[in-house]
Amino acid sequence: METRSQWGTRAGFIMAAVGSAVGLGNIWRFPATAFENGGGAFMVPYLVALLTAGIPILIMEFTMGHKYRGSAPLTYKKMNKNTEWIGWWGVLVAFVISTYYSVIIAWAISYSIFSFNLNWGSDTEGFLFNNHLELADPGQFGGFVPGVLIPLIIVWLIVLGVLYRGVKKGIEMANRIFIPALVVVFLIIVIRAVTLPGAFEGLNAFFTPDFSAIMDGQVWVAAYGQIFFSMSIAFAIMITYSSYLPKKSDITNNAFIVGFGNSSFELLCGIGVFSVLGFMAVQQSVPVDEVVAGGVGLAFVVFPQIINQFPALNELFGFLFFGSLVLAGLSSLISIIETYVAGLSDKFNISRQKAVLFGGGFAALVSLVFATRGGLNFLDAADYFINQFGVAFVGLVEVVLIAWILRKLGEFREHADGISDLKLGGWWTFSLTVITPIVLLITMIDLFRTNLLGLFDTENGNYEGYPDAFILYGGWFVAAGALVVGIIMALLKWKGSKDMNENETQNTGEAK
Ligand code: ALA
Repeated sequence: METRSQWGTRAGFIMAAVGSAVGLGNIWRFPATAFENGGGAFMVPYLVALLTAGIPILIMEFTMGHKYRGSAPLTYKKMNKNTEWIGWWGVLVAFVISTYYSVIIAWAISYSIFSFNLNWGSDTEGFLFNNHLELADPGQFGGFVPGVLIPLIIVWLIVLGVLYRGVKKGIEMANRIFIPALVVVFLIIVIRAVTLPGAFEGLNAFFTPDFSAIMDGQVWVAAYGQIFFSMSIAFAIMITYSSYLPKKSDITNNAFIVGFGNSSFELLCGIGVFSVLGFMAVQQSVPVDEVVAGGVGLAFVVFPQIINQFPALNELFGFLFFGSLVLAGLSSLISIIETYVAGLSDKFNISRQKAVLFGGGFAALVSLVFATRGGLNFLDAADYFINQFGVAFVGLVEVVLIAWILRKLGEFREHADGISDLKLGGWWTFSLTVITPIVLLITMIDLFRTNLLGLFDTENGNYEGYPDAFILYGGWFVAAGALVVGIIMALLKWKGSKDMNENETQNTGEAK
C-alpha cells in the first residue's frame, strides 16, 4: 500500500526546493565570499561549479530520491546495501548544520526587533559582541545569553511545528507563504539599494574581476563550497525532498528551475549587498573594500551601520532586511531537519511526529551550546569545518561512489530521461565522472594540507587563529563525528521492513 507522503503539486515541490536552497548561504555568505575571492572573477569558478557540479548533482539527487523513494539512508541502502553509511553521513552533517543555523536565525529575529528603535546605536560591532552576544573567549561557555535563548526557542517551535504537520500540510504550506513573501521583501530592498547614491561604486567593486584569483586553488574551494551549501546538495536534503515526488515528475526541468532560481537569487543578493556597501563607502569617503566584512560581520555589524545611514525609513528597511534573513533561514532550516526526521522515521519505523520530537528535540538541545556566551566561537569553528570536511567531502565520496564504483550514472540517466522533457546530454555524465571528482579531489587534498599544517605548525596558524585544542574539539571532532556517528547509525538494525524492498519502487499517485 502506498503510504509515503507526497507533495500536493509540482509548484509546491519547486517552492520547497527553492525554499531549501535560498537561505542564509545566499544572503549571509555569498556576497562576502564572492568579494574575498576575486569579485567578478569569482563568477568564473562559481559558474563552472554550478554547471559541472551543482546542477548535475542536483539532477542526480532528484533522480535518486525519486527512484528509490526513501530518506537519504534508505535511498543509499536500496541502491547498494553497503552504502547506507553515506546517507547517514549526509544526514549527520545536516544535523550539525541545523544546530547552529537555527541560532543565526534567532539572532536575525532579535535584530528584526532591534530595528524598530535602531537599538544597536552607532557602535554596531560593540553592540553585537558585548551587548547582544556577550561574547566569551574561545572554548568557554559562560552561561546562556537570554537574548539569544528566547528567539532560539521560538525558531525551534516554528520549524518543529511545521515539520510535525507533514509534507503537504506543513512543509509545502509554509514554503508557499515564506517564499513569495521573501521575494517581495527582497525585491523592495534591492530596488532601494541600487538607487542609493554610491551604489554604482559598490557594484563596480563587486564585478571588477581580479583574474589572478582564478589561478588560486582556495578560490575554487570557496566556489564549490558555496555551490554545495547554497544548493542544499551533498547533505541529504534534496534526496529527501525528491523522495516525496509523485511518479510523473519532470526531474531535469525541476532541477534547472531550482538551480538557476537559487543562483539568480544569490546574484541579486550580491547586487543588493554591494550597492549598499558602495553607499556606505561613499558616505564615509573610503574605498568599498574597507567596509566589506564576511558572514556574521556583514549581516550583523555592517548592515546595522548602513541602516543607520539610510536617507529615510531606516527602521522599516532594517526590519525588512532582517525579516528576509528570518524567512530565507526558516525555509532552509525546515529542509535541513527533514533529513533526519525522514531518516529516523524510515530506520526505526516510527511516525513522523515521533521523529520530529526525538530528532528535532535533540538538535534543539545541542543548539543550546551556541546560545551561550562562547557560542559564536563554537559556531564559527563548527560552520567552517562541517562545510569543508562535511558537505564538500560527502559530495566527493558521493560522486566517486556513484560514477566510478557502482557505475550507476547510465541507469540514473535513463531514469531521468524517461520522465523528463529535457534529455540529459553527455555533459552530465562527463561532469560527474571526470570534472567534479578531479576538482573536488584536488581541493580536498589542498584543504587537508593547509588545515593540518595550521594545527601542527604554529607559524601557519589555525583557522581564524583559534587555539589548537579549540580547533581540535570544536572543528575536527565535529566534522569527524558526523562520519563516525553516521557509520554507527548504518550498523544499527532496521525496524520494520522498509529496507527489505531492494527493488525499485515508485510513487503511484500524480500531483493533483
Ligand atoms: N541552502 C541553504 C542556504 O543557502 C542551506 O543557506
